[in-house]
Amino acid sequence: MLILGIETSCDETSAAVVSDGQVILSNVIRSQEDLHERYGGVVPELASRRHVTAIIPVIDLALRDAGVSKDEIDAIAVTEGPGLAGSLLVGMNTAKALSMAWDVPLIPVNHLEGHIYSNWLTEDQSDSTFQPPRFPCVCLIVSGGHTELVLIRDHGHFEVLGRTIDDAAGEAFDKGARILRLGFPGGPAIQRASAEGKMGRHTFPRAWLGDSYDFSFSGLKTALLREVEKYKREPSRPKKVVSTDPFPVHEPPEYSPNMPASDIAADFQDAIVDVLVKKTERAAQEHRASMVVLAGGVAANSLLRKRLENALSVPLRSPSLRLCTDNGAMIAGAGYYLYQRGIIASFDLDISPQLPLVSDTALEPS
Ligand code: KG4
Ligand code: ZN
Repeated sequence: MLILGIETSCDETSAAVVSDGQVILSNVIRSQEDLHERYGGVVPELASRRHVTAIIPVIDLALRDAGVSKDEIDAIAVTEGPGLAGSLLVGMNTAKALSMAWDVPLIPVNHLEGHIYSNWLTEDQSDSTFQPPRFPCVCLIVSGGHTELVLIRDHGHFEVLGRTIDDAAGEAFDKGARILRLGFPGGPAIQRASAEGKMGRHTFPRAWLGDSYDFSFSGLKTALLREVEKYKREPSRPKKVVSTDPFPVHEPPEYSPNMPASDIAADFQDAIVDVLVKKTERAAQEHRASMVVLAGGVAANSLLRKRLENALSVPLRSPSLRLCTDNGAMIAGAGYYLYQRGIIASFDLDISPQLPLVSDTALEPS
């Protein structure tokens, strides 16, 4: 079964063709990093406008890369939510139009379920040894918008054990990088800086929140602000704002050249990873998980992967780096298993920017 997956929930326009929920035939990802970089974060209005111009060429290319025609597509899977409303709308309306025009079913996919299913995919079409993850497994979803620890008992059976009560892990990386003036997106920037830095010179708090599996990263950001405060100084040049710019960038503070940004970044990264690893390891033990799966943009973090691998007594499955960040293949992959369980949408399907991750049983009418 060939599914076209469409993902536009944030700042990546992506379309992919996946066979039987496992083999990626194509996965075209148009990142908008260049657009949002100067603002140090995603500007929703700009993101949705860029999705509008990118979506059709991206789908065209996904079909061409896969070497299939539109007539060979059996279903279209699209991100329903959570995400930015204006961005989600572009993918949703395109998917609905194509589903109607091509007369194929429309499958609504929760973005978080998509991230989970990035672990069920392979880019190697000739890999006959590929094994999908085993249940029950614990999945740590860590992205720019989410930090969730999920127990997965079977396809469609999710139990959210804990989530962030304030900032997401990726958001903490992005805000941290912005404070340290390391660039955007923050995760890769902090990882790069940390590689040059020495750990153990700066102390950052860990929010354990008792025995819960919830996370909190906003205190860490405040601690970082306090740390860099010592190195702040007045801008050497007068502030320059271009008046015609609809989103003027405020001149960031300047730091003394003596600020050990890489050392600070290394301890900041360590504080985030420490909490993620310890809570995931405890959840895996308590729920006797067969394995742990990682998902989301922050899953690309090499310290997180290494520390988790060392801490766990069960195998760790992580997606390839390309499948960590938002992409259409994960939506097509999740869509396949939803379709197998008879979940398809009617044309009155709407976007759901706050959509939570729930089990199928919770979706069934009472
Ligand atoms: O999953 P994703 O592409 O988008 C969301 O659904 O949010 O995740 C993007 C997030 C950003 O916050 C980015 O800074 C973070 O993933 N990220 C990383 C790394 N690569 C991307 N965080 C830590 N280390 C990385 N290597
Ligand atoms: Zn995502």
